[in-house]
Amino acid sequence: MRLSRFLLGAVALLPELVLGQLSGKVGPTTTTATKTAKKKCSVLDYGAKADKTTDIGPPLTSAWAACKSGGVVVIPSGDYAMSTWVSLTKGAGVAIQLDGTIYRTGTAGGNMIFVQSSDDFELFSSTGKGAVQGNGYQIHAQGSRTGARILRLYKVTNFSVHDVVLVDAPAFHFSMDTCTNGEVYNMAIRGGDWGGLDGIDIWSNNIWIHDVEVTNKDECVTVKSPSKNILIENIYCNWSGGCALGSLGADTAISTVHYKNVYTQRSNQMMMIKSNGGSGYVEDVVFENFIGHGNAYSLDIDQYWSSMSAVAGGGVKLTNLTFTNWKGTEANGASRGPIKVVCADGAPCTEITIKDFAMWTEAGSKQMYSCRSGYGSGFCLKNSGSASYAATTSTVSAAPSGYSATSLGSDLKTAFGTTVSIPIPTIPASFYPGVAPYSKLAGN
Ligand SMILES: *[C@@H]1O[C@H](CO)[C@@H](O)[C@H](O)[C@H]1NC(C)=O
Ligand SMILES: *[C@@H]1O[C@H](CO)[C@@H](O)[C@H](O)[C@H]1NC(C)=O
Ligand SMILES: *[C@@H]1O[C@H](CO)[C@@H](O)[C@H](O)[C@H]1NC(C)=O
Repeated sequence: MRLSRFLLGAVALLPELVLGQLSGKVGPTTTTATKTAKKKCSVLDYGAKADKTTDIGPPLTSAWAACKSGGVVVIPSGDYAMSTWVSLTKGAGVAIQLDGTIYRTGTAGGNMIFVQSSDDFELFSSTGKGAVQGNGYQIHAQGSRTGARILRLYKVTNFSVHDVVLVDAPAFHFSMDTCTNGEVYNMAIRGGDWGGLDGIDIWSNNIWIHDVEVTNKDECVTVKSPSKNILIENIYCNWSGGCALGSLGADTAISTVHYKNVYTQRSNQMMMIKSNGGSGYVEDVVFENFIGHGNAYSLDIDQYWSSMSAVAGGGVKLTNLTFTNWKGTEANGASRGPIKVVCADGAPCTEITIKDFAMWTEAGSKQMYSCRSGYGSGFCLKNSGSASYAATTSTVSAAPSGYSATSLGSDLKTAFGTTVSIPIPTIPASFYPGVAPYSKLAGN
């Protein structure tokens, strides 16, 4: 509600600013208080026990059924086991208040908590301590990556997810697909140090994601196709794969995405756009205020991404992408320079702008910038033309002025690995240096 007011206020005051990114109001239509006043359905009244043994699956499904036409499903503080997954459908004006901790004990694939075809929905913790502990290490230690995603939202409209913690998913942590008008904020996600353990994946319309921390070794907060009107702010990739657009294939349709205030440390990249062949477009995207430390890649457009099998098509067309105010240091700029633009020869990038970009290497004393088939302004991009061109690489051996950027101070120094239990973190007080979260953290 505070948000709705904020956005409505912002729309009234600064229409161009808000409409340029989001297309309208995000978040639930009715307040938590309204829902609570209507009906409360505690899982304890439907057979749940905070004994870390009794399966919370069936009680949660029953509580949802009782409250899904208007009310709040309450999971009080305490430790619960989940051995069977829940598919929660057709809610309208319903919230799930997760104040306890749910520990995965089941081994099925799919989604532990799957919310679909619902409107005016909220998943939150009133204390900021609600968590799902996926115990993925028990599976990963066997060398296996099978198992469930923790949370999936599908065809959910007018919703929010906030102040909850997701830990050590067997597979992915949180995805939103085919959703509209959503807000996700004040979250910590902490997974194993492996690929396939994505933080947040979005392919949706009109979504605001802000104040989120992700630790893992795959997607931090990543936009997939189709998506439009996505605003992603105050993101802390604290030892992750890093944020990305992709991977992108046939008929890609991504537009009007804005990443702002993204702090990335010890990750694969600060931002990657990844594809190999394919078709369609990515257009009107801004990547603003990025700080990096100790990452392998920094700005990394790779339209011949070797981890993806080539798909049919001359390439996804990237147009009107702006990278501005990037600072910090990369791990080794001589082997992996801070600017790597590899556009598809079959669909050269156009209107790419790289400005106010100053990064320097942590190892050695030189770094390179490399561009292929990319047009626009800044560094190695060609200013005019439209034909494909081979990679051009320039090496610099002096640090650009103004590259130095602050650290968050509590950066993770070693990974959590994949074989031992990963502790449940607390949600951090800030996700980008000097910037307070938009909404006060719950329980503070
Ligand atoms: C979502 O909320 C908007 C008002 O902001 C409303 O117009 C729309 O109908 C709602 N969506 C659904 C599917 O009910
Ligand atoms: C480029 O994208 C930005 C950000 O979405 C947008 O404001 C601007 O209008 C776009 N420019 C063109 C020429 O479409
Ligand atoms: C980064 O991750 C490490 C390990 O989880 C944690 O100790 C540190 O507090 C995190 N930083 C913040 C700001 O949360």
